[in-house]
Amino acid sequence: MNRLKPDKMPRHLAIIMDGNGRWAKQRMLQRIVGHQKGVEAVRATVEECSRLGIGFLTLFAFSAENWLRPKTEVQALMALLKKYIRSEVPRMMRNNVRFGVIGNREDLPASVNREIDDAIARTAGNTGMLLTLALSYGSRQEIARAAVRLAADAVAGTVDLATVSEELFNSYLFTGGIPDPDLLIRTSGEMRISNFLLWQLAYTELYFTDVNWPEFDRTELHKALKDYQERERRFGLTSDQLRVCR
Ligand code: FPP
Repeated sequence: MNRLKPDKMPRHLAIIMDGNGRWAKQRMLQRIVGHQKGVEAVRATVEECSRLGIGFLTLFAFSAENWLRPKTEVQALMALLKKYIRSEVPRMMRNNVRFGVIGNREDLPASVNREIDDAIARTAGNTGMLLTLALSYGSRQEIARAAVRLAADAVAGTVDLATVSEELFNSYLFTGGIPDPDLLIRTSGEMRISNFLLWQLAYTELYFTDVNWPEFDRTELHKALKDYQERERRFGLTSDQLRVCR
């Protein structure tokens, strides 16, 4: 457990929390029970990442496509989210965690948005880890929206097209101001990105585990971090070049 190198922690960890439904089905339980168990894994992961000094944790909690799930499941997930956000603020305060959301917030029920606004306001002064929930989030939509907003600024004359750079475009994304993820974890054995942070994951290390999200605990998190710490990140350079840079 303690073999992790504190100086080699990812600055930004992103997680696709998958497999709640399968976890429940394997136990003859309703899917929502899997999501409830998933909340416990969220709680433990947030606490441990903050303890380990990870600066940014981004969790894919509800995709733009998840609205197409059965109405009862969507309603249950929204109720869980509302309850989670409300009940976690005291813990976020204790752990100096700042809260944020990326995604199409206008799609969310007003009552969920109220909890989000409240949690953002109450944790705004915290200086530790930024916990970001991706809610009603889709990366292609995010990129298209950024392009539209940038075009609008160009038409309005506040942006000169000659100065448009990757950095400027980046600032129009929901994640503007947040560094790109260093590590992406996806649980439940699926090896897909599923429209999550497509722009931001350009040089991210990917880690896939067969463990379903409700069973993703501290030991599994440490395994993923250990694996990450043993990798050589080259960003398009050669190993020899990296040795010279070091
Ligand atoms: C994927 O499992 C998970 C989701 C669509 C929702 C994730 C939600 C939680 C972990 C609980 C609520 C979150 C927070 C932050 C409080 P799945 O349902 O797609 O599983 P399956 O692929 O096995 O069906």
